[in-house]
Amino acid sequence: MTKRRIRKAVFPVAGLGTRFLPATKAMPKEMLTVVDKPLIQYAVEEALEAGIEQIIFVTGRGKGALEDHFDISYELEDTMRARGKSLAAIDGIRQKPGSPVYVRQQEPLGLGHAVWCAREIVGDEPFAVLLPDELMVGTPGFIAQMVEAYNDVGGNIVGALEVADSETDKYGIISPGKSDGRLTEVTALIEKPKPGTAPSNLMIPGRYILQPEVMRILERQEKGAGGEIQLTDAMAQLIGVQPFHGFTFDGQRYDCGDKAGYIQANLALAWQREDIGPSVRAFAERLLQGRREGAV
Ligand code: UTP
Repeated sequence: MTKRRIRKAVFPVAGLGTRFLPATKAMPKEMLTVVDKPLIQYAVEEALEAGIEQIIFVTGRGKGALEDHFDISYELEDTMRARGKSLAAIDGIRQKPGSPVYVRQQEPLGLGHAVWCAREIVGDEPFAVLLPDELMVGTPGFIAQMVEAYNDVGGNIVGALEVADSETDKYGIISPGKSDGRLTEVTALIEKPKPGTAPSNLMIPGRYILQPEVMRILERQEKGAGGEIQLTDAMAQLIGVQPFHGFTFDGQRYDCGDKAGYIQANLALAWQREDIGPSVRAFAERLLQGRREGAV
């Protein structure tokens, strides 16, 4: 199979974020900040680092803040300039004219449906999918590592991450074939297998490189686990037809759609920061000290 360059990335951001209520009642989950940056910005930067040229957001009602974040903030920028304040913190967020592209998923019918909503913009070329509520920290970033692997093997590549046996019923799970370094052949995929039935404990985190043929399968709108149109089920139908691999990321994943994962991401990233790291570490030390003394 010829390997066409990955130029486009789809960011499905139309989910309801029910696990993070009440924070996500009126605010998009993807605008939650880790330290001082919204999740969506981390994901967009990860894609740009990998050479992605076109950013495609699949949005829904109530997600206007996402669009504003990547636009000019006239009042803010003018006022800051007039007061001689540095704009360094917001430099480079605005994208080139005409980007990002926004399409709407009118109803949250599932991740597969959200990806399919971008079919006209993706067209007939391979593309990446990033779920911004999963924050990936690595050098280079997750998608950059996957693109490098794609340049070797082509076809479809999904992230592959080991989870505890007790967790497999929450995720799309890979049935693994032969492994070679960070790449593992995928022989089957199953979305949210019942406890005790998972073929492995390799789950698919929210990073994908897919061939456009997946859109033709999604077109059938078949419902899977939870009554949703599942991306995993559509991808599974490409196995055996096109190359299909799992890729083990050299880095750390934080599930920021989950409250505990989100707090861990904030702590981990704040910990390493030069500016606030020292005070955060000192506070954590005091917390632990307090617990040892029975006060926390
Ligand atoms: P989640 O499974 O995290 O669902 O979606 P959610 O609705 O965002 O959050 P919870 O579970 O209710 O708390 C994974 C990704 O897929 C997108 C979400 O925005 C998120 O980035 N998604 C999901 C859609 O865009 N549309 C859908 O119909 C479902």
